[in-house]
Amino acid sequence: MREVYLDYAATTPTEKRVADIMNSTYSQSYGNPSSIHAIGRRAKGYVEEAREIIADYIGADAKEIYFTSGGTESDNWAIKGTAFALKDKGRHIITSCIEHHAILHSCEFLENFGFEITYLPVDEYGSVEISELKKAIREDTILISIMTANNEMGTIQPIKEIGEIAKKKGILFHSDAVQALGSVPINVNEMNVDMLSLSGHKIYGPKGIGVMYLRKGVKIEPFMHGGAQEFRQRAGTHNVTDIIGFAEAVKMLKENDKK
Ligand SMILES: Cc1ncc(COP(=O)(O)O)c(C=O)c1O
Repeated sequence: MREVYLDYAATTPTEKRVADIMNSTYSQSYGNPSSIHAIGRRAKGYVEEAREIIADYIGADAKEIYFTSGGTESDNWAIKGTAFALKDKGRHIITSCIEHHAILHSCEFLENFGFEITYLPVDEYGSVEISELKKAIREDTILISIMTANNEMGTIQPIKEIGEIAKKKGILFHSDAVQALGSVPINVNEMNVDMLSLSGHKIYGPKGIGVMYLRKGVKIEPFMHGGAQEFRQRAGTHNVTDIIGFAEAVKMLKENDKK
């Protein structure tokens, strides 16, 4: 029987071009980017090149790109890292009721530690209403997290406007753009975001690799503790192969945008 795969919102097949570059990386770039010898430095070079490709695609600086294990980790980091860093400033977070479980369950977890979460409703089109957001903002609000595009309905949220409101109020703004990358233009400055989550496997890249964009100057707590990787913010030996695969998938997006 012929198998037809249509569930591209759940994941996309890894593109051959991505798989090919990953396969060659397995044998040629096995070094640890934290090692100071030539083989390590070569691997580090590939990681830094990938960081630049992804940064360039979303209008960020390479130093604002942190590699993670996927969208779930980036979302967890944004929510918990902000909460731990700003708990003395305030303990109120605003999100929406249609976020991915990586956001919703991170928020529920924080409720056990005295944080209060407002889960904004959405209108009949699945869109967050700006008037509801404005009503929800409090003196002690430290974070707003609203996804760029929904993974089930495809609704695109008014991110730029939400970001402007957050900026005016001095509240950090995170957006889960895992499902949006490749479908809508992503530019961190135009979107007014402080943090953004991305994932490789929704754009014909590998699974288990993601990115957290963290705006320069924004201080949140690291999520993984250990080595000094990722500017001391996300410990763990780099997943060089998947990082290269993710960057290759982003290169494909860029090429398609030009067509
Ligand atoms: C909107 C959204 N956020 C986060 C995730 C989680 O990303 P990952 O599978 O890379 O952990 C997904 C994946 O389905 C998603 O659709």
